[in-house]
Amino acid sequence: MRSTIPWPYARVAAHRGCGTTAPENTLEGFRNGLRFGYRAIETDAMLAKDKVPVIIHDEKLARTVLGDERTVPELTSLEFRSLDAGSWFGPAYCGVTPPSLEQVIRWCRANDVWMNIEIKPAMGAALETGRVVGELTAKLYADTIVKDGFKQENISPACPLFSSFERDALRGAMETAPDIPRGFLIDEIPDDWRDVLEEMQCVSLHTNWKRMTPEFVREVKDLGYWVFCWTPNDPVKILELFRWGVDAVCTDRLDLVPPSL
Ligand code: G3P
Ligand code: MG
Repeated sequence: MRSTIPWPYARVAAHRGCGTTAPENTLEGFRNGLRFGYRAIETDAMLAKDKVPVIIHDEKLARTVLGDERTVPELTSLEFRSLDAGSWFGPAYCGVTPPSLEQVIRWCRANDVWMNIEIKPAMGAALETGRVVGELTAKLYADTIVKDGFKQENISPACPLFSSFERDALRGAMETAPDIPRGFLIDEIPDDWRDVLEEMQCVSLHTNWKRMTPEFVREVKDLGYWVFCWTPNDPVKILELFRWGVDAVCTDRLDLVPPSL
């Protein structure tokens, strides 16, 4: 059994930056998270047409940019600046734009907010997305990066944590930002999860809380990895997950879940 260092970040992060309290993955949303006392966010980065990482969850715009049938890779980052990613949530947020990853990193750094950056590639762009997100993040967080910072014992709590469902995205980030820690994101538990954690030199497994059992959490922890669960919204359930050994969660219910739970 490998030793496991205590999770060095906040134990509760705001899913998509603000959960369901404001338009997801927007700076206005992140500010709302701060109002709830949250100083840790999970957020999704994808490449626009000009290969600039933008903050958005879906490859198709329509859910958060009403009436827009285009996809993220069809638009340049400049065009993103005039999208309305707020009206879907409510009229008060009309005209709120999806930010770039660079804007969000600068905002997080200025406000002392920790980031779990989910690398969320559009179809067929996993390796490239990982590389580009890795390179930009490493540049903007250069002063926080420590040598071999991908190992639990060396981690700087100021440095972000990457995660991705896509192995090639983790591979790309490992190429351009080898010292920024990585986590492997899963929904159904694949047979080869241990191999991926090892190959991508991950520090954590990011799991769907609904699939967790005390036995599985123990197994992951005994291998020396942290367990980060998405996206439990009931404080009682979150406390139970913590009792099982889960290290951290992201949640949508900033209004129900105290960040210091
Ligand atoms: O990173 C955890 C969680 O965000 C994964 O699911 O679809 O909300 O990005 P999704
Ligand atoms: Mg996500």
